[in-house]
Amino acid sequence: MNQPALEGLRLNVPAYVKHAKLVSWVAEMAALTEAAEVYWCDGSPAEYDRLCERLVQAGTLRRLNPAKRANSYLACSDPSDVARVEDRTFICCEKKDDAGPTNNWVAPAEMRALLQTGERALFKGCMRGRTLYVVPFSMGPLGSHISHIGVELTDSAYVAVSMRIMTRMGRPALEVLSEAGEFVPCVHTVGAPLEPGQKDVSWPCNQTKYIVHYPETREIWSYGSGYGGNALLGKKCFALRIASTMGRDDGWLAEHMLILGVTSPAGKNYHVAAAFPSACGKTNFAMLVPPQSFEGWKVTTIGDDIAWIKPGKDGRLHAINPEAGYFGVAPGTNTLTNPNCMASLGRDVIFTNVALTDDGDVWWEGMTAEPPAHLIDWQGKDWTPQIAKETGAKASHPNARFTVAATNNPVLDPDWDSTTGVPIDAFIFGGRRSTTVPLVTEARSWAEGVYMAATMGSETTAAAAGAQGVVRRDPFAMLPFMGYHMGDHFAHWLAMGAKLADSGAELPRIYCVNWFRKGADGKFVWPGYGDNMRVLKWMLERVDGHAGGEDNLFGISPRYEDITWTGLDFSRAQYQSVMSFDHGAWTTELKLHGELFDMLGERLPRELLSIKHRLEHKLAN
Ligand code: OXD
Ligand code: MN
Repeated sequence: MNQPALEGLRLNVPAYVKHAKLVSWVAEMAALTEAAEVYWCDGSPAEYDRLCERLVQAGTLRRLNPAKRANSYLACSDPSDVARVEDRTFICCEKKDDAGPTNNWVAPAEMRALLQTGERALFKGCMRGRTLYVVPFSMGPLGSHISHIGVELTDSAYVAVSMRIMTRMGRPALEVLSEAGEFVPCVHTVGAPLEPGQKDVSWPCNQTKYIVHYPETREIWSYGSGYGGNALLGKKCFALRIASTMGRDDGWLAEHMLILGVTSPAGKNYHVAAAFPSACGKTNFAMLVPPQSFEGWKVTTIGDDIAWIKPGKDGRLHAINPEAGYFGVAPGTNTLTNPNCMASLGRDVIFTNVALTDDGDVWWEGMTAEPPAHLIDWQGKDWTPQIAKETGAKASHPNARFTVAATNNPVLDPDWDSTTGVPIDAFIFGGRRSTTVPLVTEARSWAEGVYMAATMGSETTAAAAGAQGVVRRDPFAMLPFMGYHMGDHFAHWLAMGAKLADSGAELPRIYCVNWFRKGADGKFVWPGYGDNMRVLKWMLERVDGHAGGEDNLFGISPRYEDITWTGLDFSRAQYQSVMSFDHGAWTTELKLHGELFDMLGERLPRELLSIKHRLEHKLAN
């Protein structure tokens, strides 16, 4: 430990902290980062209010009009710090091959030299002039056997208050940790030390960014960004990248999936976990309002982004939402696309990079049919519909977000915080594809379902920095979030299925969906949103063994008459256009599956290759 740097620095350890290893790690990190002070978050409402007030004073948060949005704030980030940075995200395991070809890799020793140990290591002195916040958190219900604990050290109060919304944060998490419990250490800095007398900016960050994971030692180090998945380390870094490795080692799954509950008119409960890439409607699907004609059907939310899934005592797969809040994409959300979400956003919200109205409320593209006559855009400039017409300027950033507690959700599932999780009846995998992939297909077997998930493609969105609308393979919707070799992940799924089947357990069914097919006019054909209930109902009827379907190239799809159409005017011709298989498009698609498989090389399970050959044979015939 760097003793001189600790001289005069009090660690301020509260009396209730009993974990000696945690305290010595905090001391070590305080010395490395040369933080000006250390503050342990207890997670109380009073602390949240205090830190938000501090952020208001610093200009990071702006308090919204309490008559419009009670206890809510707006943060506007630096224009260079608006999304996850996939090209700056690293999996640093000892062997490059264990990270696989879909991850950026640097050897741990080299990365440690760059970040921690080298002469000019980035974390050395990175918190000078700033407070180091100790943020203990539980991913998942407190005390659940499916949950795990993390501790994030951060020099961003914005991160600390966001973590309080997004996780079970503070003293209760430390109580679970007790004297010697295991935790994932997460170190985060905005990378902007303050020299004595230097004035701070409202959104400190650094042009240099590193989002680093050491899966073997289960550590996370994040440098230079204050935004979302780069900085709230419980989310993508822990709950997906580190947890996927933990799951591979210990026989469970960490997936980029929403979890929803469905109650039928007869009162039967089902649970579905669904994987979609970022910004493809997971939050909307998780809060779906069934069409009026579906009287008696109810959808409830367990999670909107991440699922941790472990075999339960009954042999079935049980899932929890490791998060406690939603960090959702605001643009496009409105009372028609997601009324439950809009109802969740009435109070106690932190908005980031949306626009400010003249009466102190927020607005984003798609919130209302008519935009307000005047706004302050997410970069603090005047915005009017006329300016937008002339320059194309967006009032809110396309990746603008809301951060809100799950308990604000009017359709929160009563079991969302259950320590045993909910049993999963079906998995859904969906991409954003304007062509090629049909509305819905049921896999004929677990292995075919794994094939569907493994070969998923999707058009890129604003959730990550980089080009948008480009089709890329996004296996399991986990491309940016895998903590190890993607081929090993496929093998892990196959092995989990085989183990469950051996134990005599009923395996969840697996479905592939695409809500995003477009017609010749370039418009979406399928109405989506609440009408996705029609597809969900067919799936659940299949689970119960009483819905029809017909074989297609890679599974079973509903015939027109297998879907409930009451209340929707959707012709057979329209249905045909969202269900059809185009021979040429599928020939290309299978070639793209082949490219992915070639890239994964030796670690690709042979079983998936056999399935591909079967599909090619079927297509040729
Ligand atoms: C997210 C993402 O923020 O996937 O959930 O980018
Ligand atoms: Mn996500």
